[in-house]
Amino acid sequence: MMNPNIEKLHSYPFEKLGNLKAGVTPNEELAHIPLSIGEPKHTPPGFVLETIKKELHTIAQYPMTKGSEPLRESITNWLINRFKLASNSLDPDKHVLPVNGTREALFAFAQAVIDPTKNPLIIAPNPFYQIYEGAAILAGSEIQFLNTTIENDFIPDLDSVDVKTWERCQLIYICSPGNPTGKVLDSNFLTKLIKLADQYDFIIASDECYSELYPDEKNPPVGLLEVCAKTGRSDFKNCVVFHSLSKRSNLPGLRSGFVAGDAKILKQFLRYRTYHGCAMSMPYQLASIAAWNDEIHVKNNRALYRSKFESVLNILDGALEVSQPDASFYLWPKTPIDDQSFAKKLFEQENITVLPGSYLSRTVDGINPGANHVRMALVAELDNCIEAAHRIKRFIESI
Ligand SMILES: Cc1ncc(COP(=O)(O)O)c(C=O)c1O
Repeated sequence: MMNPNIEKLHSYPFEKLGNLKAGVTPNEELAHIPLSIGEPKHTPPGFVLETIKKELHTIAQYPMTKGSEPLRESITNWLINRFKLASNSLDPDKHVLPVNGTREALFAFAQAVIDPTKNPLIIAPNPFYQIYEGAAILAGSEIQFLNTTIENDFIPDLDSVDVKTWERCQLIYICSPGNPTGKVLDSNFLTKLIKLADQYDFIIASDECYSELYPDEKNPPVGLLEVCAKTGRSDFKNCVVFHSLSKRSNLPGLRSGFVAGDAKILKQFLRYRTYHGCAMSMPYQLASIAAWNDEIHVKNNRALYRSKFESVLNILDGALEVSQPDASFYLWPKTPIDDQSFAKKLFEQENITVLPGSYLSRTVDGINPGANHVRMALVAELDNCIEAAHRIKRFIESI
């Protein structure tokens, strides 16, 4: 006997991609350039690695699920500075909790907050980070997707949701900056969503793990806690944000992030996590403190992405329907042929891997919003990204 919901999990996009590429022989004269996986490739900050080495002896301790006080303090300070919160608005004891990456946290969160006895519904954007769906399925919840397309400027249409659906909704995942669209949801959207959360009593889980990868140093993406603060919502009721060092600090293997917001929810989430057994190892907690306390490496990281977007978009201009995203490291172009054929042929002819957009989305109301798009992660080195852009252009001219 097994949990029957496990059978309901969809195959992961990279499994589908593996099947698509199986049997295809790529052009072997060209080196492979993967643009498919959203794994940061820039060098991790040296001082963080040094901290791990220096603090390795702390592995002798059992870490606390709640995380050490210094870690929660540095996260709190980071949030206050980044989202312009009042210095006394966040209590490190109540409002923040370290997690082993946002993937784990986004999944676990649904397990903790969903009441399976009340015909639950989770709402999520479409296309989406696949964990939202898996989390819903294993929490015993139905999931309803809101299409984000060029036509609605990649913003989930809250007005399209009927009253009955809102009444059933226990949790909504939003992703800003979005994967794969790079769309930043603005204050107006977030304010409207908070009003709905009050009206229908559901929780907003705001996945902000790309929040630090933005093009304009003077215009960082707004966050959910920032909007709470601006609208006088000092208890952050029903609002929880998810942040990570993976993209911000090029530390995807550290598995370090945090959740922050509504103290009542976090108290119960901590209770859940204590049993789940997902405390962050001490050397990694100490390394995370070093990372959250430094912005210089993050600024340098942004500069690298900026130069890649500039070069790549310059080359692709006129060849593909593509534009600079609000933030993140993804391009989400429309494809001139269907997305799977595009990805397959591009691999065959130019030895470049991109992810078919339809692997990241489901068909809703007869529309698959990922179809005829591919996701390209500009994670490779600048030279490789430039080389990839030239090859993509040549490929498009050939079809
Ligand atoms: C939208 C989104 N959320 C969360 C994650 C998980 O990141 P991590 O677990 O490394 O923090 C990713 C990783 O690709 C992502 O794209």
